[in-house]
Amino acid sequence: MQKQIDIHQHFPSSSRLVYGAMGLGGGWNDQPVNSDDIKQTHEIIDTCLKLGINMFDHADIYTFGKAEQVFGEALKQNPALKNQLIIQSKCGIRFEDELGPKRYDFSKQWLVKSVENILTRLDIEQLDVLLLHRPDPLAQMDEVAEAISQLKVQGKIKHLGVSNMNHGHITLLENAIKAPIVCNQLELSLNHLAFIEDSVTSGCSGQPVVNFAPATLEYCQLNNVQIQAWGSLAQGLFTGRDVSNEPKHIQQTAELVEKLAAQYEVSKEAIVLAWLMRHPANIQPIIGTTNIARIKACAQATTIELTREHWYALYVSARGHELP
Ligand SMILES: NC(=O)c1ccc[n+]([C@@H]2O[C@H](COP(=O)([O-])OP(=O)(O)OC[C@H]3O[C@@H](n4cnc5c(N)ncnc54)[C@H](OP(=O)(O)O)[C@@H]3O)[C@@H](O)[C@H]2O)c1
Repeated sequence: MQKQIDIHQHFPSSSRLVYGAMGLGGGWNDQPVNSDDIKQTHEIIDTCLKLGINMFDHADIYTFGKAEQVFGEALKQNPALKNQLIIQSKCGIRFEDELGPKRYDFSKQWLVKSVENILTRLDIEQLDVLLLHRPDPLAQMDEVAEAISQLKVQGKIKHLGVSNMNHGHITLLENAIKAPIVCNQLELSLNHLAFIEDSVTSGCSGQPVVNFAPATLEYCQLNNVQIQAWGSLAQGLFTGRDVSNEPKHIQQTAELVEKLAAQYEVSKEAIVLAWLMRHPANIQPIIGTTNIARIKACAQATTIELTREHWYALYVSARGHELP
């Protein structure tokens, strides 16, 4: 039995898994989107919908805008899809250009223009969620609030979410926009354990270095900020990628994933995602594979719940040493 997830508060019909569109559009190059790219996008959307995955994650920068563009082409060809999908996208990262280096930009002008360009590329009137992609240290909160308010009033975005932010950033933003931040997207997986390490090592002497802002997960749980996990498949590290040159504990974790997959009678991807989903924050994994068989393998994650013992076995194996 699946637990109710927090994002249902804002999107009663959202799926637990989110499809990550970073791989769409023909790659990070200047080749124009072609008919094969559009065909691939149709196949992926159809596969996802058949599997019950109806939430899609974009960003304006993915494949230099081509991921959104190819998705928009698919929606143009089949407009009936539009009201079946929950679509989010991100902005706030600028590539290096004649004006400066790669940088973050939460100025009102950049945010508003970015959303307008996103809507044009996706061929939709409104984004279900706009995510601010990475914290901009120069962000003026009043200006961000003005931009978000204008975009909401104009009906261009429904909700605001964030990505790669800590609880301090979220508090500051919520205070400025006077509305809830609906999600926070972070890199979380069996290969990015800092979100668990932060909590598990909090009472340890010697102050272990954990590269994760303390209590971000707890803040999100407490305030109904849906946690979304990017990199949730760890780019295949435990589910079939060649690990012969990886450290012993990674190889052993890949073996354990395979063993548990056989035991639960599901795919290896399902075990890796179910590990994230077992956490009480009700994490929403984002799956970035463009491989149809792997998308189907991922969907099996919603059919199982790992035991406490199996969850810990995976965690301890992936961290490479026993718990304090
Ligand atoms: N907020 C952020 O800052 C941020 C950053 C990065 C990504 N994201 C979002 O999160 C989504 C997922 O992120 P992600 O793509 O980094 O992570 P992911 O879902 O962990 O990994 C997907 C990648 O791993 C490859 N892969 C998966 N299983 C494999 C296997 N068994 N063998 C070989 N390759 C395998 C996939 O290739 P195939 O396509 O060939 O399967 C794909 O390139 C993205 O699409 C994007 O929507 C957000």
